[in-house]
Amino acid sequence: MYRHIVNPGIKKGHINPEIQGHFSEHLGRCIYEGIYVGEDSNIPNVKGMRTDVVKALKEMKIPVLRWPGGCFADEYHWMDGIGDKKDRKKMINTNWGGVVEDNSFGTHEFMELCSQLGCKTYVNGNVGSGTVREMSEWVEYMTFEGVSPMSELRRKNGHDEAWILDYFAVGNETWGCGGNMSPEYYSDLYRHYQTFVKNYNPDKKIKRLAVGPSDKDYAWTETLLKKCFERAGSWNNAHGFMDGLTLHYYTLPYDWSKKGAATGFNEKEWYMTLRKTLYMEDYINGHSAIMDRYDPEKQIGLMVDEWGTWYDVEEGTNPGFLYQQNTIRDALVAGINLNIFNKHCDRVKMANIAQLVNVLQAVILTEGEKMIKTPTYYVFKMYSAHQDNELLESMIDTKKVGIEDEYMVPNLTESASVDMGGKIHLTITNLSLDEEAMVESVLLGESVKGVTAEIVKGKMDAHNTFDNPDEVKIEKFSNISFKNDKIRYTIPPCSVLHIEAEV
Ligand code: AHR
Repeated sequence: MYRHIVNPGIKKGHINPEIQGHFSEHLGRCIYEGIYVGEDSNIPNVKGMRTDVVKALKEMKIPVLRWPGGCFADEYHWMDGIGDKKDRKKMINTNWGGVVEDNSFGTHEFMELCSQLGCKTYVNGNVGSGTVREMSEWVEYMTFEGVSPMSELRRKNGHDEAWILDYFAVGNETWGCGGNMSPEYYSDLYRHYQTFVKNYNPDKKIKRLAVGPSDKDYAWTETLLKKCFERAGSWNNAHGFMDGLTLHYYTLPYDWSKKGAATGFNEKEWYMTLRKTLYMEDYINGHSAIMDRYDPEKQIGLMVDEWGTWYDVEEGTNPGFLYQQNTIRDALVAGINLNIFNKHCDRVKMANIAQLVNVLQAVILTEGEKMIKTPTYYVFKMYSAHQDNELLESMIDTKKVGIEDEYMVPNLTESASVDMGGKIHLTITNLSLDEEAMVESVLLGESVKGVTAEIVKGKMDAHNTFDNPDEVKIEKFSNISFKNDKIRYTIPPCSVLHIEAEV
């Protein structure tokens, strides 16, 4: 029996819904086909946005969406994506397959999409090939309500009211595709560019994000924070101009030269993948420790704005489109990471899985008019119960499972929270390929009055296809009982479980 201790008396922080955020780039079939089909399409749509996709994402409670990239952001010139569609400039998408980008999805379309989804907006600006003026005018175009050249242009293009821009990032991966910059150089650029990301709406300040590190690049974090906090203590204190620092970390079973297959993998690759995904916690700890020295009050969020699995593309698909299937292994990756983000909610204020539709660890795949929800989708849907809750102190007994020493992992991970109505939510993942686990969750000092539970489970590479769309889905879980402060259940191997307890 594995003991899972939850202490409702100790609240550890607020779980920002944005921890369950998403990312949509002009990459492959994410935006075009996956989300936006245009108003003249035979696929049912509202103002060009696929009705089926929007409905599914709303049901999943998508909290925030990042756009337009990724690497694409640093070659995107926003003015090419406004005005009459037939006059919009065409460009080459150099990062992703060299295809023609016709700019038919631009700022107005992104804001329309977020309004249909009812989610927050996160726009990524162009530092790599854009000017300060271009960035500054984009923000003015989106958010200025009064009379100005950019707000007038927005009105001319059919949108009177300013939009709410929740998050704005000054570049993307500026250490790589966003300009191959040194941390010293980018730190100066960040200080410079963000100065002109003006807050026109005093009631709704834009959260400004600096490009942070990848993986364990602690030197980047240290240099950036040092340079941004230099001459601190007055109006130019970095607290005044940085609300978040981004972190990118992808889970690859192998490495960048051979990533590994999305389906048909073996048992060793299952554990390799889960071992790699658990590094996320090490990286969050490492970067948080540096941030704690500069920002002990934790005013600056760590925004994990790209994460997820990255496999070899599906055979026969464009290598630049990053299209991959999504299995129970991905469900575990999602559940493990969302538990990690919950546990670090004092520092992690946003996270955006890559990417929303048809790219990398997508929650949705489409083929023409068909749409399927992936195992990752169902995990996000279950975990939405944690959004806006208070994290509870919790811990669980585990044992190591795996195949070789190098790829041993704990068999269980968990997190626990309490919602506004007082219900307690537990999410538990079983990483073992073949062993179920009997668990006793003890809710200290509480008397459990009722439980409901739901689960995503299956064989290690179980997945949904367009012919068999319901192979993996959320199922009711009834192998559970409760008495006094205890809940007992047997969690099957390869599964992600959500328990809601009334106390
Ligand atoms: O998500 C795919 C790519 O991965 C993004 O464009 C880039 O930021 C990262 O390297």
